[in-house]
Amino acid sequence: MSMIIQKLLAGALFALMLIKGMDLIIDSFMPVEVERAASTGGAAEAATAAAPAAPEKPLPVRLASADAKKGEDVAKKCQSCHTFNQGGPTRVGPNLFGVVGRAKASLAGFAYSDALKKVGGDWTYDELDKWIAKPTSYAPGTKMAFAGIADGQERADVIAYLRSISPQAPPLPQQ
Ligand code: HEC
Repeated sequence: MSMIIQKLLAGALFALMLIKGMDLIIDSFMPVEVERAASTGGAAEAATAAAPAAPEKPLPVRLASADAKKGEDVAKKCQSCHTFNQGGPTRVGPNLFGVVGRAKASLAGFAYSDALKKVGGDWTYDELDKWIAKPTSYAPGTKMAFAGIADGQERADVIAYLRSISPQAPPLPQQ
């Protein structure tokens, strides 16, 4: 290869690297929205993408339309650790018959974590909703190794099922 061609190639390569470098620098300074709008071809689309999810309905509304039968299905996720029948045995977690309206961490013979014991109060609908959403946020340090149920209606269904097996359950909250 002649010296001239080699120099030309090196020059071209250098120019390419320069262009690519500029690109990267511009990229890193451009706000994400602008970039997304540019790549999807419209600011309107970027606005929809950034729109927040619809807010969750309040619990009394979710409970009013909850389906205990569906909740029983959802509760299969809990069965590896909980029994639901009256007088059912302890598994990894306590038996849940009658849990709605029961004092928290109160089933005799189950070794609850200090984290749950110190929360105090009864299992109301509202408390159960928060607990089932994310046990580790509700009672940091809890022994319930369960990620939680993010879907609000699914939680309401489970709570409706728990209510159906809780003779002492308080009346449903007013909407
Ligand atoms: C991996 C096992 C596991 C799974 C799955 C699980 N739990 Fe639990 N659960 C536990 C343990 C362990 C405790 C006791 C927690 C503590 O002492 O910190 C508990 C406690 C509870 C309590 C409090 C009971 C009381 O007497 O105070 C409720 C209510 C409950 N779980 C509901 C559920 C529901 C509903 C599901 C399914 C959606 C579920 N759990 C899934 C292990 C589990």
